[in-house]
Amino acid sequence: MLRRMPATQKQKRRRALGETPPDKHVLYQRSVQSVEPEIDFVDRTYLKLRGKRASLLREDFCGTANTSCEWVRRRATNHAVGVDLDAATLAWGITHNLGALSEEERTRVTLERRDVLAARKQTGTRGYDCVLAMNFSYWCFKQRAQMLGYFKAVRASLAPGGVFFLDFYGGSDAHQVMKERRRIPAAGKAEPGFTYVWDQATYNPVTGAMTCYISFDLRDGTKMERAFRYEWRLWNLPELRDVLAEAGLRSTVYTEGDDGKGGGNGVFRPSEHNDADRAFICYIVAERS
Ligand SMILES: C[S@@+](CC[C@H](N)C(=O)[O-])C[C@H]1O[C@@H](n2cnc3c(N)ncnc32)[C@H](O)[C@@H]1O
Repeated sequence: MLRRMPATQKQKRRRALGETPPDKHVLYQRSVQSVEPEIDFVDRTYLKLRGKRASLLREDFCGTANTSCEWVRRRATNHAVGVDLDAATLAWGITHNLGALSEEERTRVTLERRDVLAARKQTGTRGYDCVLAMNFSYWCFKQRAQMLGYFKAVRASLAPGGVFFLDFYGGSDAHQVMKERRRIPAAGKAEPGFTYVWDQATYNPVTGAMTCYISFDLRDGTKMERAFRYEWRLWNLPELRDVLAEAGLRSTVYTEGDDGKGGGNGVFRPSEHNDADRAFICYIVAERS
């Protein structure tokens, strides 16, 4: 939702030039997603665990299918299936992300508009080498039984030896009603900088239910308020690992190393320990035997 504010000089100039305001999916991709390091992690971890390269990957909650596109760009033998419920978001991804692929690369991406709970293995295949659930999207499942149903459906879609990758965030900040602001630098003249706002607007510790929003503050004064909304349950790691185990998936947590300045260094390794930081992210790697 774009909040109506008195037009600034820059906005008036933009309108006079017939320029369109920035697109929320572009701002999301620039501020939230890091598909290259994410696919580096998936590719490297699968190779380490299985001694061979993965080729068939499913991206659950794919949104604009940015990650699927990165997967097929990596190798000519890679294929991706993106699954999401939202037709408008998928359509944006087809135009902008699949549209930026070569014709040949595009033939190796399939998008399915469906509930991830109903996603199955592709007919005529042994199943997926990898299934991904990133940006915490699987937290939309608030009941244990529902999460178990999702994990069982993922297990049934994986090839023998297939690997399910999930990301996770935690720490005491995750339990707070709070806002975090982060400046995103300009990416050349065509893509000015902006401020990304992560808004943990409500959190109920009795049920774990939380409502979060992403807003964007643009340099010309425009506020793109609550561009994205998430209704989640705040899960914790041991309970998710228990549910994965019940679904027949053996999980390992990969925690991030320290950059020596109080931040993460982007290197994730298997570990049974993490400091009780205010905020941390990690991956859960869940293997089908
Ligand atoms: C946070 S976005 C994730 C986008 C992308 N995966 C990423 O890593 O940034 C969440 C997406 O999940 C989709 N979604 C929510 N519930 C779903 C469900 N049950 N089945 C399929 N897609 C769902 C929404 O339409 C939305 O596009």
